[in-house]
Amino acid sequence: MSDNNIKNLKTSIEETMPETGHGSLLKTRSLSSDAFPHVRMRRLRRTSAIRDLVRENTVTANDLIVPLFVEENIDERLPLSTMPGVFRETEKSLEVAVKDIAASGVKSVMLFGVSHNKDHNGSDSMDPNGLLARMIDRAKQAAPELMVIADVCFCEYTDHGHCGPLCADGDVDNDRTIENIAMQSVIAAEAGADMIAPSGMMDGQVSAIRHTLDVTGFSHIPVMAYAAKFASVFYGPFRDAVDCKIGKNANVRSDRKSYQMDPANVREALRDALLDEREGADILMVKPGIAYLDILAKLRQQSELPLAVYQVSGEYAMLRFAAQAGALNYQDAMMESLLAFKRAGADMILTYAGADVARFVNEGKPFNI
Ligand code: PBG
Repeated sequence: MSDNNIKNLKTSIEETMPETGHGSLLKTRSLSSDAFPHVRMRRLRRTSAIRDLVRENTVTANDLIVPLFVEENIDERLPLSTMPGVFRETEKSLEVAVKDIAASGVKSVMLFGVSHNKDHNGSDSMDPNGLLARMIDRAKQAAPELMVIADVCFCEYTDHGHCGPLCADGDVDNDRTIENIAMQSVIAAEAGADMIAPSGMMDGQVSAIRHTLDVTGFSHIPVMAYAAKFASVFYGPFRDAVDCKIGKNANVRSDRKSYQMDPANVREALRDALLDEREGADILMVKPGIAYLDILAKLRQQSELPLAVYQVSGEYAMLRFAAQAGALNYQDAMMESLLAFKRAGADMILTYAGADVARFVNEGKPFNI
């Protein structure tokens, strides 16, 4: 188009421009401008149909994994006061819980034991008749189509509450722990676990587990590494839930900072996660979620593996209690948080709200804002 033609076109548009109240502003802009008034972002936000068309991320039941607590030797499921809506299931009520989750459309659960048989090493979790093996078997029998992920760690089974046996100085013995965790993983796989998720943050645990599974006939079982797990205060309600508070004994360290990550560190988290990838992890997890979205987004740039994120007990509790106090709508706040994980790069989300969320989504109205 010649300069003259452009000039004529501009003049004719200016003459026919509707009165918007911004007339002078509109007329000062050049036609080739890529900003207002030629560009109006609100065009793609005008109706819910168009918003549905341009939406970049969604949360579906396919994305969710529900953590469940199972306590041995109790007669009735117990509600958890710090996690409204969550229970310690009995070994029997676990059957109902997994069937209910499967019916909601969620396809995976992760099991945590509440042990009455604790010792220094957490040996009950390495016993083929122990709680870990029994609950996996029970869940698989009750809902065979549901994927059962075994969290492999020792803190629920040790009398001192740490994630492995202790050295003389009171710190967790890394290399003994990874030998034990490899054994625990085989026990879990033999009981029917579909995936192994080591959460202890011990060095070398992924390769120890991968190697041991491979030589015991479980080369088909994937490992989801708690790859960047921070020493977070947001695990507080979980430690009540599984009764693994640490620091009760004077000679035992009262925190997990010698193995879980410093919340201040980004590069270290990426290094640790990428080491897990090299050790053979199939999926990398970031934990907690909402306060660590930067780690998730950066890891998404550096790894091609599927990424998981854990919306931990404290995050769930914050939303629940804020909703109970009338400060937030639970459904909307939950969905917005989960969407943030998808946006930051998560493929899958562990959340205590999983069955609720599947129902919100399946009712076709994930948001009522
Ligand atoms: C055990 C484990 C913990 C969580 C998952 N696995 C507790 C911890 O590391 O202290 C926390 C989960 C949550 O807070 O929801 N290693």
